[in-house]
Amino acid sequence: MSRRQVLAAAGGTGLLAATAGSAKAATTRRARAATGDGTPEQIHLTWGENPTNSVVVSWASPGESVRARVRIGQRVIPAEARSYTDGINGETVWTYHARVGGLRPGATYVYNVTADNDANAADPFSATFRTAPEGRAAFRFTSFGDLATPNTQWVLSYGQSAYAVAAVESFQPLFHLLNGDLCYADLNPTEQPDVWRDFGNNNQASAANRPWMPCPGNHEVEFDNGPQGFTSYLTRYTLPDNQVPGLAGRWYSFRVGSVLFVSLDADDVVYQDAGAFVAGPAALTPAASTGNPPIEPGTSFYIRGYSGGAQTAWLERTLAAGRGDQSIDWIIVQMHQCAASSSATGNGSDLGIREEWLPLFDRYQVDLVLNGHDHDYERSFPVRGADAGAGTEVATGAAVNTLRPHPVTTTDNGVFDTSWGTVHLILGCGGTDANLDDYGTDTADSKRQAKVFTRADRPALSSTPDVYARAAADAVEDAIWSAKRDTSTGYGIAVFDVHPDPDGFEGQTSITVTQYHAVGADPVNPATGAKGAPTPDYTEFETFRLVRPRSS
Ligand SMILES: [Fe+2]
Repeated sequence: MSRRQVLAAAGGTGLLAATAGSAKAATTRRARAATGDGTPEQIHLTWGENPTNSVVVSWASPGESVRARVRIGQRVIPAEARSYTDGINGETVWTYHARVGGLRPGATYVYNVTADNDANAADPFSATFRTAPEGRAAFRFTSFGDLATPNTQWVLSYGQSAYAVAAVESFQPLFHLLNGDLCYADLNPTEQPDVWRDFGNNNQASAANRPWMPCPGNHEVEFDNGPQGFTSYLTRYTLPDNQVPGLAGRWYSFRVGSVLFVSLDADDVVYQDAGAFVAGPAALTPAASTGNPPIEPGTSFYIRGYSGGAQTAWLERTLAAGRGDQSIDWIIVQMHQCAASSSATGNGSDLGIREEWLPLFDRYQVDLVLNGHDHDYERSFPVRGADAGAGTEVATGAAVNTLRPHPVTTTDNGVFDTSWGTVHLILGCGGTDANLDDYGTDTADSKRQAKVFTRADRPALSSTPDVYARAAADAVEDAIWSAKRDTSTGYGIAVFDVHPDPDGFEGQTSITVTQYHAVGADPVNPATGAKGAPTPDYTEFETFRLVRPRSS
């Protein structure tokens, strides 16, 4: 079926029968970077305020677009233009956002994206998407974080990130959760817009067909790009409104079926200092056109506490409303940094999240927390409450209270009732070239061990003259909450199938979770030293089921 036939079949409403098949595959268009080139690229969808009837189509163009717009059937929806000028290299980035409302639940639509100065105006970019179903319906979503780009000229980029996008498409989820550290533009500070561009064009192969819902990670924090460094991130994404003045887009919630999804910015609460950083010995000097002064060695962009408690207050309101709503069974949190990770070569766990948010997750029975940050896969037992006195300071061996999450069971039988405790999943397994699937072990007792940040690791002079470094986590604990770790690869994708009706469990709803992993994709396996290469081959690592009573 040609694109025109698809559009004809769609008729005046743009509604495309679910059985009609997809329109032509999204194609990457690397348009020339010339002033006045309004050719759409980096096309991606996010949910609107209500996923049953609204999406947002967002894109960028090399130059300023003229009359940027989306067409759905006979409807033409003008896009809102948002641009910014990168604070380091002075490049202006043009983005466009069309809010498409008034859609039918559970329906498939074909759309196209164009502008008067679109080089492809005769045959503009076209794709399809599906709205969320209404009521307690079954659906599938997928998740990973730490994606990077396939362009290996960029720091942390790797070919697996293209296969990871293809993996999302292969599972045909309703939407995808992208758990922060999107492309590591901050690690390529003089070329940030180009890194974002490679990221956007790589993702388009999936994100133009289904919403990709992101949260910020530490690498979205960029020098000279706004009060928290999020200008690039926030300009490119239009996200559900959190109704907190001045802090839109940093965190939000949305609902699909009987699940409330809560997306948080853990940069606001973690102790770890891991945002933009100039190690030295040279300063980072922004382009003269920006008017920004050199950023001296030893400077890091540390934003802990930036919301002044507004995010936590919003979280409590949102969780309370969600648990009070009898049509919501599940609460799933997405955030980048980890409360429960035992990666040895990665970052580890952070006491800031444990102090600030785990008590709320306990009080309101958050079922599942999806993270990134550590480039591996790890699953916790359901946890509730905290064990005091379980931590040891690395430097001195002194006891330190890490508020170790308390597992409500340590029997790994594949079925967990999350009304008794929250399961944490580390999914930093997207596509970076730094696989970190090497996990901690306490050499004294051979138990699993986690590193924990209990204080800020602000930059300090290293042993190399004029070069600064940020220290690793300052404490360790026996990770009795750790249930499963994938030691075979740092790459994978988690697939979640929500079953709203009781199926074999009296009066309970369930979510089946399957982790698929890309064995052999690690550039270097940290355990064996074996070299690998990117692979499209994702196979099952493990399946487990979460259950809980229906709310009604
Ligand atoms: Fe991270």
